[in-house]
Amino acid sequence: MDVNRKNHLLTLLAAAQESVVNNVEIPTDFARDFFPPERKEYELTYFDKENQQSVISKTFAAPIQLDRTFGKAGQNEWINKIIFGDNLQVLKTLIEWKKDGLLKNKDGSDGVRVVYIDPPFASKQDFQNKDQKAYSDKLKGVEYLEWLRKRLILLREILADDGNIFVHLDWHKMHYVKVLMDEIFGEANFVNDIVWSYRTGRGGNSEFNKQHDDILFYSKQQKHKFNPQREKSYTKSKNRKPGLTNYGKATTEFFEDAQGVYRWSSMRDVWDIPYINSQSKERVGYPTQKPEALLEIIIGSASDAGDLVLDLFGGSGVTAAVAEKMDRRWITGDVGKLSIYVIQKRILALENYHSFGVYNAGHYDESKMKTFTSHEWKKFAMSLYDVEPSKEIIKGFSFDGVKDGELVKVYSPQDLDTIGGPSTKITEKTLLDIYERVGLSLGPEVFIIAPQGKFGFAVDEYDHDGDWNTLFTILRVPYTLMARFTESFSAIKQANDRESINAVIDAVGFDFIRPPKVEFEIKDNVLSISSFDAESRIKGEYKTHGFDAFSMVLVDNNYDGKIFNFTNFYFNTDFKNYSLYIPELVKGKRIMLIFIDKFGNEFKTDMELK
Ligand SMILES: C[S@@+](CC[C@H](N)C(=O)[O-])C[C@H]1O[C@@H](n2cnc3c(N)ncnc32)[C@H](O)[C@@H]1O
Repeated sequence: MDVNRKNHLLTLLAAAQESVVNNVEIPTDFARDFFPPERKEYELTYFDKENQQSVISKTFAAPIQLDRTFGKAGQNEWINKIIFGDNLQVLKTLIEWKKDGLLKNKDGSDGVRVVYIDPPFASKQDFQNKDQKAYSDKLKGVEYLEWLRKRLILLREILADDGNIFVHLDWHKMHYVKVLMDEIFGEANFVNDIVWSYRTGRGGNSEFNKQHDDILFYSKQQKHKFNPQREKSYTKSKNRKPGLTNYGKATTEFFEDAQGVYRWSSMRDVWDIPYINSQSKERVGYPTQKPEALLEIIIGSASDAGDLVLDLFGGSGVTAAVAEKMDRRWITGDVGKLSIYVIQKRILALENYHSFGVYNAGHYDESKMKTFTSHEWKKFAMSLYDVEPSKEIIKGFSFDGVKDGELVKVYSPQDLDTIGGPSTKITEKTLLDIYERVGLSLGPEVFIIAPQGKFGFAVDEYDHDGDWNTLFTILRVPYTLMARFTESFSAIKQANDRESINAVIDAVGFDFIRPPKVEFEIKDNVLSISSFDAESRIKGEYKTHGFDAFSMVLVDNNYDGKIFNFTNFYFNTDFKNYSLYIPELVKGKRIMLIFIDKFGNEFKTDMELK
């Protein structure tokens, strides 16, 4: 760098610093001077684009809690996973699993071998952001890109070194996402823009029919897994017969099927695969369902049997189903409860499926915490509050982790029992003892985490009326979430009509499961709901009660008493005057109903139909 440029940059840096100190934005012109075109690669710039490292470090890792399992697996044996929750926080947890050696491919390499995602596109009505503000189209576009970019950044971390990612998009945003992918994965790691060509019968008088999607294929690094694929290439020559043909030294073998004579050739990046239509055998009734044939090529080219396949925009479960059939191990998930049940049903319908579990992320069953060991309880509580576990012993007193750079002490119910039996409580005297013992070594704040009901006082912050240099912040489990912890949290939204199934959801945070209260009756195939009351308490949302908070009901009209396998589902908007005619109900049969509120809580009930 020459002296003039150095001095110029130093002047700009000083001016930039002054702007920031005075809460003024740095002039955008500075960017050109800091990164002149001859040095800078191109980039997609927009307001509020977060730095990649901070996306990784700031994202909250939601613990993943097992809800139910299917099939039999030996202890410590891998089971495939369907995870309910916003995938952003699931991805962060999977990064930790990878670090802990829990995500291994067949050859022992860490991370998942192949990722396929088919994110929803944010159309005007379905971008459900935290505050449900009305966004201008432009801002909505930027929000959408940043929403997706965060997930792509985390996905890159989860991939195995030789892994690949396939991002399914269409004309709406594909070109912007290509630029983002170049930034995240590196332009040199772009492998293909796959064109999935189909015929849907849509058409317009002022444009060419839009009849293809794009699938962006990137590898994590240049040396990557790829199993070459072949396709049939039909000859136009009428004289060609099946058998061997010599072209100079090379010999080509021709074959014949109903469409004509063909030879095998390397697969092109244009794939002609029919769209799932109302007659397709594989159709499961979930909108936006993609054909299995697409995933067969993707999974086949980018992984081997036993490898890990990941798709956290699971939808109808196409990736999991194909991965299962191709003997891969898989992790899928979705933020929609309907999708979770559709995937569960789809896998259960496969012959000899490997065992799998359905998990919750960000939405927990409090009663299951009672079965935890002390270590598990602490680990779970710390992850709820985003605490980095790290044992620290100061003057003989042990701390369990660090949050925002400050020490954290966790008391599990078992710890408290050992200290003085089941009635032991943390009192002001406990805090005083800690302060007297280690006060001088503490920072301005220290966090105490313990089960709700185990504190002998009600305040959430304690510093002995300002006498102490350290503020004790109390975090109860389940939780008393003070404003600062909940600010960025938002409730998961479940669809209450068909159009919103494929919504873009941004719902990071956690809550405990609180089944809605439902009163209903079934008479002559008519289900009438006389009262529906959602109990969720997520910030700002708990005011919504009543029928508005009812999302959908899933019906199993022939329940076997063990596995719920729904036969149909109905949305809030299908009801008229809180009543719905359900043709498939048959008197004398055992049925099961799952009512779901708009936060994803379920009320389950089964009965014999009279
Ligand atoms: C286009 S669909 C996927 C369809 C799927 N490929 C198939 O073939 O069935 C997109 C899915 O993403 C889910 N989704 C939206 N936001 C999400 C989020 N933040 N976390 C997880 N899933 C999300 C939607 O519920 C929807 O099921």
